[in-house]
Amino acid sequence: MPKYQSSFFHQDFISVDQISHKQQIMELFTHADRMKKYVEHHKIHESLKGKSIAILFYQPSTRTFSSFVAAATRLGAYVTAIHGMSEVSSAVKGESLEDTIQTICRTTAADAIVLRHPGDDSNQIAAETAPIPIINGGSGKAEHPTQSLLDLYTIYQSYKKFDGLHVAMVGDILYGRTPKSLAKLLAVMSSNIKITFVSPSRLKAPQSFLQTLKGRVQVGETENFKEVLPQVDVLYMTRIQKEWFEQAGKMTEYEKVKNRLILIPELVSLMKKKAIIMHPLPRVNEIDHKVDTDPRVRYFDQMRAGLYIRMALLEKILLRGRLQKNK
Ligand code: NCD
Repeated sequence: MPKYQSSFFHQDFISVDQISHKQQIMELFTHADRMKKYVEHHKIHESLKGKSIAILFYQPSTRTFSSFVAAATRLGAYVTAIHGMSEVSSAVKGESLEDTIQTICRTTAADAIVLRHPGDDSNQIAAETAPIPIINGGSGKAEHPTQSLLDLYTIYQSYKKFDGLHVAMVGDILYGRTPKSLAKLLAVMSSNIKITFVSPSRLKAPQSFLQTLKGRVQVGETENFKEVLPQVDVLYMTRIQKEWFEQAGKMTEYEKVKNRLILIPELVSLMKKKAIIMHPLPRVNEIDHKVDTDPRVRYFDQMRAGLYIRMALLEKILLRGRLQKNK
């Protein structure tokens, strides 16, 4: 068994690969439960008073951006939040990500930076540059570690375990970053988990990613959505990532796959009574709005879980650290 380390303290959080033991996650969940109580009881808990957090987003976002801003603000930190970095920052003039990170560290006296960026290795680059922790708010097609923490937290709220679960991840596994991060974290929680990726062949999980799961969990792949539905405990729907098709000039391919996997009430009726339906959101058309009232739906709860998880994570990174980042 790998040695347990409480590695959130004063560390970057740029990849789920940094988490090697389920104990780290369970501790974070306990902490998130505490944050939940503060929020629900409107309790003032300004533990990060005097700390400064910069939140820099180079890609569109509603949930991740607003919940990081809300989490940092509720904890009493000074918050510098800039949305639309690709359009309004000196990146437009050709400034490198490294120089921008150096700048923000100085201008805001930040104690941590939350970064969303289209580059797969953007957070790695930022972490190598910054003398303070970098928290990944989504990097390219590769990683979305805080989303997977809140996804995991949501699953835990329903099942109180991970052992024995069958999780289907549906949609765009090629470009989507959330199923990749979630699958890797599920593998940390239990080896007795089955993950079935359901996607059109054009959007299948990259081999390099599947390799990272090899021998850790049971993995299956199929295009047959209907067949998988009655078997699963967790149905994790995802959006077809139009922006990457656009970037590659492959919109005719997007048109071919965009309506292939749509969850409608008739399909939900095939699912187990106790199964849960998740989605990181935003949805486009992959879940019919008529499904929203089904008691198995968890995609609205996921968003609130994001606030609690991000509050807990910010505290873990900024308050309890004894380990200093090696620079
Ligand atoms: C996801 C993302 O940005 O990767 N959204 C989110 O953060 N909740 C999913 C997506 O955009 O499809």
